[in-house]
Amino acid sequence: MYNINEAYSMYRVPSGVFNNVDVQHCSFVPFAKYSPAYVTTNEDIRMIFGNFNPSGKRVLANTGSGDAPMFYRAYGARDVDSFDISYCAKVMMDMKTAAIKTMSLSEYLGFLSNISGTKNFDSYSDIVDAMPLLSRNFIKCMNGCAIFSNGMGVVEEALPNKEEYKKMNRSINSSIPFIWSDLKDLHTHLHKQYDEIYLSNIFQYEDDKDNIAKILNNLRPFLSDGGNIIVHVTWVFRGWELDKYKYVSEKLKSWARMGLLYEFGQQVMILQKMR
Ligand SMILES: C[S@@+](CC[C@H](N)C(=O)[O-])C[C@H]1O[C@@H](n2cnc3c(N)ncnc32)[C@H](O)[C@@H]1O
Repeated sequence: MYNINEAYSMYRVPSGVFNNVDVQHCSFVPFAKYSPAYVTTNEDIRMIFGNFNPSGKRVLANTGSGDAPMFYRAYGARDVDSFDISYCAKVMMDMKTAAIKTMSLSEYLGFLSNISGTKNFDSYSDIVDAMPLLSRNFIKCMNGCAIFSNGMGVVEEALPNKEEYKKMNRSINSSIPFIWSDLKDLHTHLHKQYDEIYLSNIFQYEDDKDNIAKILNNLRPFLSDGGNIIVHVTWVFRGWELDKYKYVSEKLKSWARMGLLYEFGQQVMILQKMR
């Protein structure tokens, strides 16, 4: 599964946003096994927490920049696992969880703005040395590759405040478990139930509504009764996207209900397991 030589040869520096990324392992274009990671999330996760308190929950969250899993921990989730199609996402998360242990908040914020686009990690050797072995080796062998540069950079609103940073520090004492998988195969890797599954905005890249219904159906056994899947987070759902989710909702109505959470600046499609 983990193959350093493959990683180096399959990494592609994106031109623009992902135009040249190798997509041969990815049905959801344009992300792939070694797509460069995001540095911060571009989703308003606090808005979701304001409506669905994560405290005490068992959560499975898309890794992305690592922010979603880290914020779930900071806001009191009992147990957090993460998944992503890209190994770079796991390494970004490991780097951040190592960094928070040694850095003040202002150092951490400086680190985030410097790390985007970095191709050489020699000046981060203290943090790299504190990371789990596989991530450490990955960084060393990917020297020369901008593995944390998806083109978006730092999103100010996503940065932790003083209180959140303290909570992250208290609640994250080891690397967050990671499942390396395409969302469409995720169910084949799962062995336990979750109260919340956070899918970020991955379905943005899936136009086939039957595939969406199939993926959500496959996750059903791994969601507790009453549990939620945060199906899709976006700025504004367009008409055709809403039609897509109406269709999915109809398909899943024997066991789930779906609804739209809306606050200024963000819309979130939610699925709740009823039986
Ligand atoms: C969709 S992007 C958006 C960024 C996100 N808003 C965040 O908070 O970082 C999030 C992540 O989804 C991952 N991803 C995209 N398609 C995927 C798929 N089919 N299966 C699993 N992960 C996927 C990407 O590798 C990326 O790390």
